[in-house]
Amino acid sequence: MRRFENKVAIVTGGASGIGFATALRLGSEGARIVIADVDPSASSRTGEITGAGAPDAVAFACDVGQEGQVERTVADTMSRFGRLDIVVNNAAVMTFKPIVELTAAEWLRVLGINLIGPAHFLRAAFRSMREGGAVVNVASIHAERTSKLVAPYAASKAAMLSLTRSAALEGRELQIRVNAVEPGAIDTPLLWSNPNVQSGQEKIEAADVGKPDDVAAAVAYLASAEAAFITGACLRVDGGRLARL
Ligand SMILES: NC(=O)c1ccc[n+]([C@@H]2O[C@H](COP(=O)([O-])OP(=O)(O)OC[C@H]3O[C@@H](n4cnc5c(N)ncnc54)[C@H](O)[C@@H]3O)[C@@H](O)[C@H]2O)c1
Repeated sequence: MRRFENKVAIVTGGASGIGFATALRLGSEGARIVIADVDPSASSRTGEITGAGAPDAVAFACDVGQEGQVERTVADTMSRFGRLDIVVNNAAVMTFKPIVELTAAEWLRVLGINLIGPAHFLRAAFRSMREGGAVVNVASIHAERTSKLVAPYAASKAAMLSLTRSAALEGRELQIRVNAVEPGAIDTPLLWSNPNVQSGQEKIEAADVGKPDDVAAAVAYLASAEAAFITGACLRVDGGRLARL
């Protein structure tokens, strides 16, 4: 099934992990893809996306925490493709420090990328998208439960769910839906480079680890017309990890 024929999608952080899997999934179902990422290697991965069936794919250098770069990414998308239908706010960073050691600059960096970045994209999307548009925010189970040393990340993801609700309300009059997914542990570089995971402080059983494709499928569903009556929702994609007593 190609649910995204004639659609244009921006995926932030689309050079790696969940973002790349999402770009592949949306592209394989017909979307033209824009990867917005700080990683210069992003442009070398667009061939895989067109190889999977996307009519076109391009990478734009974009630090989502920089308002001007977000505005330019959306403007460049509009001039290249003439429309914008889907934004996946996926790019994020983590810090690993106790609260007593965190500086204001470190807090602001994480919140700037993980929370304000998606807000910049929401504003640009609300101005550019037509009726039927969809935004999907990639949050985390850290929005609900967390471990030590990741306070800015956990706070940013909890706030992202709040932002999802607020944007869904304001999006209704524009007929733009805004939803979130909450991945659990997913097999990506971000997971295995996490010192809490490496040290065993955050315990993850093998059965608790999902694939980037598992999240991409959920994002694609929320972005699709099949989810036309779903907005302001959060879909947990964690294999049942958080439900355990
Ligand atoms: N992997 C997990 O276990 C897991 C669990 C829960 C939530 N998530 C969330 O999934 C999303 C993707 O994570 P992932 O595991 O695929 O990570 P990843 O590290 O594999 O990919 C993150 C991508 O974001 C890009 N990026 C970083 N800062 C950026 C910025 N300022 N502007 C633009 N791009 C930037 C990176 O270059 C990279 O391509 C994140 O929002 C993360 O919080 C991941």
